[in-house]
Amino acid sequence: MTHPFRTVAVIGAGTIGLSWTALFAAHGLTVRVSDPRPDLPEAVAEALAAFGPHLATQGLDTEGLADRVHLAADVTEAVRDADIVQENGPERIEFKKELFAQLVRETPGHALLLSSSSAIPATAFTTHLEGADRVLIGHPFNPPHLLPLVEVVPGERTGEEAVQAAVDFYTAVGRTPVVERREMPGFVGNRLQSALNREAVHLVQQGVVTPEDLDTVVTHSLGIRWATVGPFLGGHLGGGPGGYRHITEHIGKSMQQMTLGEPSQDPEDQERVIQAVEKAYASTPYTDLAEARDRRQLAVLSALEDIRQNENQHQHKNRNEKEN
Ligand SMILES: NC(=O)c1ccc[n+]([C@@H]2O[C@H](COP(=O)([O-])OP(=O)(O)OC[C@H]3O[C@@H](n4cnc5c(N)ncnc54)[C@H](O)[C@@H]3O)[C@@H](O)[C@H]2O)c1
Repeated sequence: MTHPFRTVAVIGAGTIGLSWTALFAAHGLTVRVSDPRPDLPEAVAEALAAFGPHLATQGLDTEGLADRVHLAADVTEAVRDADIVQENGPERIEFKKELFAQLVRETPGHALLLSSSSAIPATAFTTHLEGADRVLIGHPFNPPHLLPLVEVVPGERTGEEAVQAAVDFYTAVGRTPVVERREMPGFVGNRLQSALNREAVHLVQQGVVTPEDLDTVVTHSLGIRWATVGPFLGGHLGGGPGGYRHITEHIGKSMQQMTLGEPSQDPEDQERVIQAVEKAYASTPYTDLAEARDRRQLAVLSALEDIRQNENQHQHKNRNEKEN
């Protein structure tokens, strides 16, 4: 039987929860939101107003978005009739342990229990939990209503049915799920991000580059490349006709000989980096920077979508011509 996806409970409505809320509602789901923050009604209204236009650009029906979002008095009320729970609370094992025990007790038996955790594997908070078979990680990238990837990471005791249901659910709300079969702190995306960030901080600490210039290096080279090909296809193409084998044999050795740095954890060194980043960006309000980021990300997504459609039409035409 396919898993029903009608009602989603969003637990924790901060940066990630608010973005999920808008996405789920734009896909016609009933969304019940729980968060103890005193400004919850205003935060949800602002998020729907800000994200609605992004979702409309993606061809989603955002008429009556707010009518599908219901604020719950507490977690119990939010999850009572949930088919899916998407948890986005604080990134602390103890919090998640307690919350997921409550979710197992208070949700309908069929409900799928997903955590947005950036780095804590499900096994870390479900070891002794009865009902762990329906708990797993559905880790998005910020903001989840724009960035398509969701890392689906089952814990040691997650059932195969739950993995499939999570893949179906995220696909149904227009995301691109990737199932990762072994739990690693930080999963895949954040491990990659962390490798890059570590070297970025090291280079700034060494005075090689300013934070602003380092950001320019990324946005004007690797960022554009990685929106179209990942590191492996990029390497395969970088090797010319000899492909990935050639680049590994040809350039691989000199790349490996480069010793990467370890950023200093000294509070004073860290403070210097924080101040350099603030000097570059803190004079512009956060909302302006976030809006600019979202506008640009939407432009990239929409350009890629147009190209994919053209490619599909082209392939379809070629197939038809061959058949006729
Ligand atoms: N920010 C990111 O870039 C990002 C990306 C992917 C995943 N995540 C993950 O998503 C989760 C949430 O991160 P965030 O950045 O949105 O954090 P956030 O601090 O913006 O939001 C957390 C929210 O949880 C609420 N909360 C606290 N106790 C609660 C409770 N008992 N019940 C319900 N809500 C409660 C807080 O009031 C707050 O609004 C974390 O696990 C994080 O690792 C974050």
